[in-house]
Amino acid sequence: MAQSTDDQQALRAPTGTHDILWPDSWRFEAVADRFRALVESAGYGLVQSPVFEYTAVFRKGIGEDNDVVGREMYEFVDRDGKMLALRPEGTASVVRAYVQHRPPLPWKAWYLAPLLRHERPQAARYRQHHQVGIEALGVADADLDVEVIWLANTFFSTLGLRDYSLRLGSMGDAACRPDYIALLLTYLDARRDELCPDHQARLATNPMRVLDCKRPECRAATEGVPRLFDHLCKPCRAHFARVQEGIGALGIAATLDHRLVRGFDYYTRTTFEFASGAIDAAQNALGGGGRYDGLVEILGGDPTPGVGFGIGVERVLIACEAESALPTAPPALDAFVVDVAGGDAARDLTAALRLAGLRADRAFDARSMKAQMKLADRSGAAVALIVGPKEIAQGTVLVRPLRAEATQRAVARENVVATLLAARVGEADA
Ligand code: HAM
Repeated sequence: MAQSTDDQQALRAPTGTHDILWPDSWRFEAVADRFRALVESAGYGLVQSPVFEYTAVFRKGIGEDNDVVGREMYEFVDRDGKMLALRPEGTASVVRAYVQHRPPLPWKAWYLAPLLRHERPQAARYRQHHQVGIEALGVADADLDVEVIWLANTFFSTLGLRDYSLRLGSMGDAACRPDYIALLLTYLDARRDELCPDHQARLATNPMRVLDCKRPECRAATEGVPRLFDHLCKPCRAHFARVQEGIGALGIAATLDHRLVRGFDYYTRTTFEFASGAIDAAQNALGGGGRYDGLVEILGGDPTPGVGFGIGVERVLIACEAESALPTAPPALDAFVVDVAGGDAARDLTAALRLAGLRADRAFDARSMKAQMKLADRSGAAVALIVGPKEIAQGTVLVRPLRAEATQRAVARENVVATLLAARVGEADA
C-alpha cells in the first residue's frame, strides 16, 4: 500500500535538522579535532553535560526575554512530570555543571555539543546545530578575555580561513549599566512610535535589545543613541581598554560595535562576534561570546567571573567550503587486502596492519579477484595486498600500487607491515 505524504515525511529527518554522512562527516571531525588540539594546548579540558536540563537552568541562566528562551527552546514535561528543556546553548549548562561539582578554580572547560533551537529553518540556520566552545571560570582579568578571543581567532586562521572579521563590545556591569539604561530609555521613549512593534513591546523589559534590531525603523530610530562605551564606569573602561590593547598586541583586528548586545541576558563587560565575509550575510556569524561575571551566582554558586565563546561547526564548514580552506577528502587507506585464498589472510593481515597504525580495509563474501580489485580501487587505497594460493604457498603477499606508476612486487608475509610503514615514512619525508 502506498504511504501517505505525512507518513513519508514522518520517516525523514525532522525539519531543520540534517544527517551528516561520510565523507562530509570527516570534515566535521577535522574541525572538531583541530579545535580540541588548540584549546587543550591552552589548558582547557573537555566537559560533557546532558543534552537536556531542568528548564530553570536556561530560564534563570539565559533570562526569559530573549528569542532563545522565549521563542525557540524545546520544552517538555517528562514522564515524571518534570519540566525539561533540550539544551539551546552551552554556557548555562556548563556553568550549572560547575556549580554542582565545584571543581577548583580557575576552571577551563571546552565542549562539542549539539544544540537545539526551534528556529525558522533556512540556509545555515538549523533546529539542531553543533558548537565547539570554551568557558573559563574564576578569573576576572581582562587578559583572559584576550586569551579567549585569541583562541577563537587562531582556530579560524589555522583552519585556513581569511575572510572573516571581529566585532567587539562592552555591556558594562551592574555598576554602570543601570545608569546607561536610564539614559537609553529616555532617548527611546521619545522615539517609541518609530520602533518596530516587537521592540516597542520590549522596551520596558529589555531596552538594550533594540540596539541589535536589524529592522530599518529601529536602525533609523537609534541612529544617534547614546553608546554604552561612552558611559562605562572606571573599572569597566579599564577592562575594555586592556582587552583592546591585548588583542591589538596579538595582531587581531577588531571593530568596536556598541550595538553588539548579543542574544543572552548573562553578558557583562566584553562581548564579541566573528563574522564570515564568505557566506550569506543573513547567517554569517561564525561564533560569538563574552564575559558573564554574574552567571555562576544566578545559578546558585558563589560570585565567580566567567568568559567564553561558542562557534557554530556547520557555519565554519560552510565558510571553509566557500574559501576552499579545508581538505574535502579524508586521508586515503594505506592498503586494501585482496584475498582469493579463503579469507584467513585477509582477516589476519588487516588486523596486523591496523594494530600497526595503518589504515586498512578488505573485501568480504569470498568475492572474485576482479570484484575485489574493483573495491580496492574504489577504496582509494595506496596499494592492494593480494593473496592467492601461490602467495600462500610461498609465504608472500603481492604488493600492487594502485595510485602510483610502480611495478608490483612480492614481499615476504612477515615483512608486509614493516614495508608499508617504511613507505609511509618515505612519503612523509618526500
Ligand atoms: P550564539 O551566538 O547563540 O552564542 O551561538 C554561537 C554560534 O553558534 C553562532 O555564532 C553561530 O555560528 C552558531 N549558531 C547559533 N545558532 C545556530 C543555528 N540555528 N544554526 C546554525 N548555527 C547556529 C551562544 O550560544 C553562547 N552560548 C556563546 C557563548 C559561550 N558565550 C559565552 N560563552
